[in-house]
Amino acid sequence: MVKYKVYVTTANCAQATTTNGIFIKLVGEDGESSRTWLTNFKGAAAFYRGVESKFSLYCPTSLGKLVLIEVDKQRLPLFPDDAWFASKVKVKSPEGDIYTFPIYRWISGSDVQLFREGTALRITDDSHHLGKYSREKEMKLREQLYSWHVYKEGLPHCMKADNPLDLPCEVRFSFTKTTEFLFTASTGLAELQLKGYSCSKNNWTDIEAIHKVFCNKRTDISDYVEQHWKDNAFFGYQYLNGVNPILIQRCTVLPENLPVTDAMVPLRGGASLSEEMQKGNIFLCDYKRLDGVKPNVINGKKQYLMAPLVLLHKTPDDQLMPVAIQLKQTPADDNPIFFPIDSEYDWLMAKIFVRSADFNEHQLNAHLLRTHLLAEVFAVSLLRNVPMVHPLYKLLIPHTRYTLQINHLARLLLIAEKGVFTEFAASGGEGMMAILKRSLSSMTYSSLCMPDDIAERGLEDVPNFYYRDDGLRLWDIINRLVNGVLGHYYKNDDEVCQDSELQKWIQDIFEHGFLSQECTGIPQEFRTVAEMVKFVTMVIFTCSGQHSAVNTGQYDYGGWMPNTPISLQRPPPTTKGTTSEATMLQTFPDINTTVQGMSTMWLLSKQSSDFVGLGQYPEDHFCEEVPHKLIKVYQGELEVLSTMIRTRNKSLEIPYTYMDPALVENSVAI
Ligand code: FE2
Repeated sequence: MVKYKVYVTTANCAQATTTNGIFIKLVGEDGESSRTWLTNFKGAAAFYRGVESKFSLYCPTSLGKLVLIEVDKQRLPLFPDDAWFASKVKVKSPEGDIYTFPIYRWISGSDVQLFREGTALRITDDSHHLGKYSREKEMKLREQLYSWHVYKEGLPHCMKADNPLDLPCEVRFSFTKTTEFLFTASTGLAELQLKGYSCSKNNWTDIEAIHKVFCNKRTDISDYVEQHWKDNAFFGYQYLNGVNPILIQRCTVLPENLPVTDAMVPLRGGASLSEEMQKGNIFLCDYKRLDGVKPNVINGKKQYLMAPLVLLHKTPDDQLMPVAIQLKQTPADDNPIFFPIDSEYDWLMAKIFVRSADFNEHQLNAHLLRTHLLAEVFAVSLLRNVPMVHPLYKLLIPHTRYTLQINHLARLLLIAEKGVFTEFAASGGEGMMAILKRSLSSMTYSSLCMPDDIAERGLEDVPNFYYRDDGLRLWDIINRLVNGVLGHYYKNDDEVCQDSELQKWIQDIFEHGFLSQECTGIPQEFRTVAEMVKFVTMVIFTCSGQHSAVNTGQYDYGGWMPNTPISLQRPPPTTKGTTSEATMLQTFPDINTTVQGMSTMWLLSKQSSDFVGLGQYPEDHFCEEVPHKLIKVYQGELEVLSTMIRTRNKSLEIPYTYMDPALVENSVAI
């Protein structure tokens, strides 16, 4: 007889413990063990959360190189049937070899489950018939568990599930996350001490009243916003470092539908608009996707959503100042172009309509579509097409954590018929679907890849652009990790072309995420290692840094409502000289709309206590030295970037923290 030592680790998370019997069978190239009940002196405590337990297993002869294990869980008399979250199983063979089997999955019910030895294997590496068999079996099961669903025609497809409990256990929130999320969601209004306001369909009557509501929950930045929301320089600053830094672009030729002349736009420093445009100092924000969208009706009142054009000037002292605003796309007599020299309230109202348009554009395009919905597509395609033993699965699975559930909740609580966004945002209802569809059809691959995006928008040398500075560094760090890890497993382009699982992953993304639109430039296949590395870098960057950049500051910049009204309920001025503070207050959303917006932004900006930071891997899917070393280097580089950002922020009036790796989550989880 020969002896195998088996070490089983239960995850250290709430409810991971099982008191059920655990059975294991070792399968090697030369044979398999009998199915063995893992028992030792610890008895029912052997599979307690956070505990590693050791067992012995005997076989008549050596099993050769171990390929997989079969694990099943059976309820014991007098004990309840309880799900078990196992981390990994390690086996020491009689020859002294150590084999690690990553699990990181809830095991419920009594079915036998197969787990592969942890060495990453592409499909073409998996020559043993047992490996091929388990690969096929795993993928058949996953295709049943993870199905594509068309939520609305024209939007990226999503995970099919009628409610969060229909999601497979391994992709659901942890107990801690569920409890916290539901608590924050149900107490958002109470926590902000806004409950009394949530039923008031009245107008705001003075700014002081908004201040009183807002002062219940503030952040350093939201305080700053309250002080500076009317400043032109701060209005411009938000296009670079606020929550929507992806819209602004350099303007080299004025759009035909923005008929401004040099004479209309006196610029600081004395140069003309044309001269400054030639020098590259003029920028444009065009909200054309919002044009003609049907606005919401809130509290029985029609709402107003504009599709503005905003022209900005980089001044000699490096500020980005708005110099002209046209609120509707088509020039007309009742569509005046507003300038900073107009009356205080004409200019302020123009900016308020822009900020409200920006809220709707940001939430639907920059945030929901370009991070949440894409992250779900990347995740579902991974889960349907790529087995656990594949290097791509090991690399990407940490970046899918909680995404399917948070998106399910977003569809349920935010954009469903009775969702907060549907009920209280200017574009809620038909409008938001129109914006989402337009956003998807205008999305390009290059705009998702930060270095290309910055170059295409002509923003390489804009000063004080911390989103770009931090984002490009983060992109490079992620790119080096991906290049190192995937470069280790794919030695040449042929190996990429021949990997049918990898190719199915990208094909599904093209088909279900980008609805097979070739004009997006999204690859339909990978032909080279470089193409694959770039795409996977984009996936990790989108799920981590980019989501953080458009998500984390929502309350910072939106908590003070006048800076980010989620809707507006009076039309914009059609002639100049008709506005006042009273017009502004009547235009702001009603009290209940305001506080619903505030509490949602509060909820969505709140970090969960089981947050996993970028580059942290509580689940150790890779078992080999090379990826482990690369991850160590990656973590070191992230730490250096984090220190650099914190040092830089000390000298900034408004610190930019959203791309600090220490504060960026690994996945779209909120
Ligand atoms: Fe988010």
